[in-house]
Amino acid sequence: MTEAVTATAAQPAAPMPPGTRLPKAVQALAFVTARRPMMQHLASRYGSVFTLNVPMFGRVVVVTDPELARQVFTTSPEELGNIKPNLSRLFGSGSVFALEGDEHRRRRRLLAPPFHGKSMKNYESIIEEETLREIAGWPEGTTFPTLPSTMRITLNAILRAVFGADGAELDELRRLIPPWVTLGSRLAALPTPKRNYGRYSPWGRMREWRRQYDLVLDRLIDAELADPDFAERTDVLALMLRSTYDDGSVMSRKDIGDELLTLLAAGHETTAATLAWAFERLSRHPDVLNAMVEEADSGGSELRQAAILEVQRVRTVIDFAARHVYPPVFRLGEWVIPQGHSILVCISQIHRNPDVFPDPERFDPQRYLGNKPPAFAWIPFGGGTRRCVGAAFANMEMDVVLRTVLREFTIEPTAAPGERWHSRGVAFTPKGGGRVAVRRRR
Ligand code: HEM
Repeated sequence: MTEAVTATAAQPAAPMPPGTRLPKAVQALAFVTARRPMMQHLASRYGSVFTLNVPMFGRVVVVTDPELARQVFTTSPEELGNIKPNLSRLFGSGSVFALEGDEHRRRRRLLAPPFHGKSMKNYESIIEEETLREIAGWPEGTTFPTLPSTMRITLNAILRAVFGADGAELDELRRLIPPWVTLGSRLAALPTPKRNYGRYSPWGRMREWRRQYDLVLDRLIDAELADPDFAERTDVLALMLRSTYDDGSVMSRKDIGDELLTLLAAGHETTAATLAWAFERLSRHPDVLNAMVEEADSGGSELRQAAILEVQRVRTVIDFAARHVYPPVFRLGEWVIPQGHSILVCISQIHRNPDVFPDPERFDPQRYLGNKPPAFAWIPFGGGTRRCVGAAFANMEMDVVLRTVLREFTIEPTAAPGERWHSRGVAFTPKGGGRVAVRRRR
């Protein structure tokens, strides 16, 4: 069913949703510096849909209701397309973030097999190895932030499982990528400057890292193609190099470079932040933690899976899934949104809906035992045709990291207040880095 409507003289356009009258500059400042409390405040004041003026996107429509989220996610991408501008500013025109319509569908089909649930077994041993290597250095009996560790684990996991990197190339990418991701996350929230401010400016540094990255990637591709076992390789780079579109064409090196960088940047910090929140939440819920340890010791996973779902709900790391209105007007519930506007589905607010999640601030993995999370009320990975490509990968990775840590260490419970939110630009992390104290299990 199409939701687009055409405003005519006979059918006057319904009003835009209500919005704050605060000066534009104040709205922009609050969006950048205090996004979470601002959204909570506006949602309690205006309800399930409201407008806002934000940097780069102008006047946007924010949705905080699962039914409207359902409408946004199930509308055809020809009507509600990709948000503009988007993260392809950082990754390049070959990134899935840059693609629309048929090109997007073709790319998603190409990426589907390596990220399908069935392919995950291939990557599990890499994640377990990386986790064991990282936690071998964890100190005992003193609190420390887990985020730097989870960042290294997820970075190495993607570099090995997705890029198929090892040896000198792996070392070079390990050096190049972390500063690139940190700076890129910050720049993602800023408009691209029209002028070139030179190689020492933030954008200049990004260009230089990209140049170095392209050189490493060229070597990696040559090495993969020369590998006598190339046909059996399971890393995503090999799968991309082997795969063809329906018309028989293959991905160019430039597109492969853009896409690998996209997968890395989209998958590394998000998963690491969620894992750090998992440690933060579990150390404050010893009953859940103890039950998870028992379960891990007996080879089970149901409660751990439920805890991962609940961490993603109560400590949502990505705030929005956003779309662009293409038809002259788009009817959203009772409202009519003009062409060119952006619609932001506010994931973190939807996760706090008390009708769907009673006592929504409570961390309670039991909610999902025997129940699947509700389709459009639990949406950490967004939804519809642009739903996160790496959702199954992220889930497997979080499961393996938690399982491995619980088997190797006892996490000390704490009565300390919960950590506050910290925005790294794109993802929200625990402000203290997910601090825990641990003891090695003998
Ligand atoms: C806990 C971890 C993760 C979270 C919370 C997360 C969240 C998201 C969200 C909210 C979106 C936007 C969806 C939409 O617009 O409807 C997205 C898109 C995307 N994610 Fe993830 N993500 C995670 C992990 C990953 C991983 C591990 C990868 C890859 C290895 C990945 C790759 C992508 C890509 C490529 C897109 C763009 C999809 C498209 O536009 O078609 N993400 N993710």
